[in-house]
Amino acid sequence: MKLLFVSSTDRIEPWRQAFARIAPDIELVAWPDVPDPDAIEFAAVWKYPPGELKRFRNLKFVSSLGAGIDHILGDAEFPADIPFVRLIDPTLTSGMVEYALWATLRYHRQTLEYEALQRSAQWRPLPAPTTAERRIGIAGIGAIGGAIAQAHARLGFDVAGWSRSARTIEGVRAFSGAESWLPFLARTDILICVLPLTPSTHGILDGRAFAALPKGAYVVNIARGGHVVDRDLLAALDCGHLAHATLDVTTPEPLPPDHPFWRHPQVTVTPHIASLTDPRTAAPQVVDNIRRFISGRPLLNRVDRANGY
Ligand code: GLV
Repeated sequence: MKLLFVSSTDRIEPWRQAFARIAPDIELVAWPDVPDPDAIEFAAVWKYPPGELKRFRNLKFVSSLGAGIDHILGDAEFPADIPFVRLIDPTLTSGMVEYALWATLRYHRQTLEYEALQRSAQWRPLPAPTTAERRIGIAGIGAIGGAIAQAHARLGFDVAGWSRSARTIEGVRAFSGAESWLPFLARTDILICVLPLTPSTHGILDGRAFAALPKGAYVVNIARGGHVVDRDLLAALDCGHLAHATLDVTTPEPLPPDHPFWRHPQVTVTPHIASLTDPRTAAPQVVDNIRRFISGRPLLNRVDRANGY
């Protein structure tokens, strides 16, 4: 059985090793040198050139190599009848939880303020809110956002989550639907965005959203650069309404060297490293779904094209 591997960023070797260990019957074929495109029935893809998959006429199902599937949804020529799935990789999820906690605790424990005080050799304890007094808002409470929300709740933070359709997570105040977006933001001191990027969430972190956050709020984006309207974020930081932003994702990626985010004193940029898919934990899911497909069982983590997640 042949699995087409298409990625503009991943190296195939670790995936090949992971597949060889658990499914020696599945051979990985590295795009773009595919001698017999008609022999390809399955594909695992990450940020591939749009339109590329349509030459594989016998393709039956596609797996994203990451949690996000915006690269597939953004491919206008992706064959309409082919189902596709995302990965919910435990290693990826725990990396996202770690990054979110790091950003939150850095803000919550006033790291930026103490670094500034240290630069001027000032020994000055600041009044410190407890976790119960710090309101965390997680935009997107699916597999990843839910885990982030729970990790914050365990530390005693006052946690709320927003999602398009109603979801409940123990210890987390749930907001859902467009009408609760601004009320959710109004009670959020540290906003963590893990939304899927869809036409309805594109540019959702705009001037209106930033104005709805309380003065002095922090923004952490670990979803996609497309969620943020960059000039609105810069304006909200420059006028002092927002205190700081942590951006692991940008538009475009890599962020061009002259982009104002790089040198802005109230912005931390990291190069989309919050978390990475681990072939060792992710390959079993791709294999499981291929086996499910072959035996006619329902696919796991199948993406609903209309919802975009
Ligand atoms: C990473 O950004 C992913 O979607 O897996």
